[in-house]
Amino acid sequence: MSQGNVCIHGEWSSRTAFILAATGSAVGLGNIWRFPYITGENGGGAFVLVYLLCVFLIGLPVMIAEILLGRQGKRSPINTMRTLAQQYKTSQIWQIIGWSGVLAGFLILSYYSVIAGWALAYIQLMATTLSNIPEHAVAVEVVEQTFSQLTGDPIQLIIWHTLFILGTMMMVVGGVQGSLERAVRTIMPALLLLLLILFGYALSTEAFLEGVAFMFSPDFDKALTSKSLLDALGQAFFTLSLGMGAIMIYGAYLPRHAPIGETTVVIVISDTMVAILAGLIIFPIVFSSGLDASDGPGLAFLTLPIAFIQMPFGIFFGVLFFVLLSLAAWSSAISIIEPVIAWMVEQGIPRLVATIIAGLGSWLIGLLTVFSFNYWSEFYPLAAWSIQLNWFEILEYLTFNIMLPLGGLGIAVFVAWIIPHAARTDELDTNPRSILYNVWLFLLRYMTPIGVLLVFLNSIGVFS
Ligand code: TRP
Repeated sequence: MSQGNVCIHGEWSSRTAFILAATGSAVGLGNIWRFPYITGENGGGAFVLVYLLCVFLIGLPVMIAEILLGRQGKRSPINTMRTLAQQYKTSQIWQIIGWSGVLAGFLILSYYSVIAGWALAYIQLMATTLSNIPEHAVAVEVVEQTFSQLTGDPIQLIIWHTLFILGTMMMVVGGVQGSLERAVRTIMPALLLLLLILFGYALSTEAFLEGVAFMFSPDFDKALTSKSLLDALGQAFFTLSLGMGAIMIYGAYLPRHAPIGETTVVIVISDTMVAILAGLIIFPIVFSSGLDASDGPGLAFLTLPIAFIQMPFGIFFGVLFFVLLSLAAWSSAISIIEPVIAWMVEQGIPRLVATIIAGLGSWLIGLLTVFSFNYWSEFYPLAAWSIQLNWFEILEYLTFNIMLPLGGLGIAVFVAWIIPHAARTDELDTNPRSILYNVWLFLLRYMTPIGVLLVFLNSIGVFS
């Protein structure tokens, strides 16, 4: 069990290792696949603005809170919440944060892995189908066909989904510290470099300015429905890996003296830059090739190959890009499932068995998402309650729009209202009168709870 201050799961070797791992967790499909498509569906500019507000006014403070809790508890989210509730003599009801995190971990990994499977499949597709298109004029057609062929074929989807889950399991089985730092150290700069190359291409398209305008000139009249507010909030939590204990467990492995505040700012800014960059690449391509910004979950997979087909050395860059995207997804997936595994290990289950249970569980639930893109695309399990969503959309809604914001709300309230002042200032190594500390506390005390509750009430129609 735990010896003194060191947790049973081990520690990161340094603060840099933690920054790398947390950035690896944050930067993933959320930035490159989800951000552009959800921005497109919600009409652009105004949505991006609300998203950025959510990231900096709600996400950033919650991330600090989540790391702080993890480092105090030094255990899986369930046991961290249990120990801290005991220590601060408050209700064990707070454990719910940990339990909902474990459930969210299974559910999120289940579809995350299917989409990451697309990225894997595109490594091969870039090198084959998409590499010998006779005429540029037909590029858009071929790319659209390729995407619908892939998603229409459950067997292929299952194969790639299985490979991705196996890859994730192989990494977590040995414990996440160590090789993860080394991997992320290469993956992130390489991914950034390729995004910059793609950005160069986007600059050269005739619709570059149209893409920029779509992202940055808000049109509040048509864009901001109550659903878009909820989408922006959910996306902010998802992209920063917040609200389910992933960052908490990474915080649990953080050495005692590493400064939490600055570290968090670095992570949040890097993550946001990648998402914005992805948008600035994808929207110009959307408009210059006559696609539709609200094309949905396929958006990145429909646009990026068009760029690769048309640019010099495109096939080489394309293959490399999808390799890197798969790796970025993989370094995120690890953090989605780690809270579950850490908890099982604390219950005395060997790490190998825990990994198999978690992997198999997510794999099975993932089949619901696989079939949502073909056989069951129009099967609405909750139709009786007039909810027209297929399985994938239900899982997405439940995790993004409900579980993560509520988890984040719980974490904010616990840290801002329940634990004593000294516990916060000690852990953050700060003076209670420091301005930054008080801004943070204010945001966490008022902004997060009020923001999350207003968006929620709004989305169930209280204000309409
Ligand atoms: N943030 C990752 C991304 O943008 C996904 C992710 C990793 C995540 N760990 C998480 C999302 C925990 C929610 C909770 O792709």
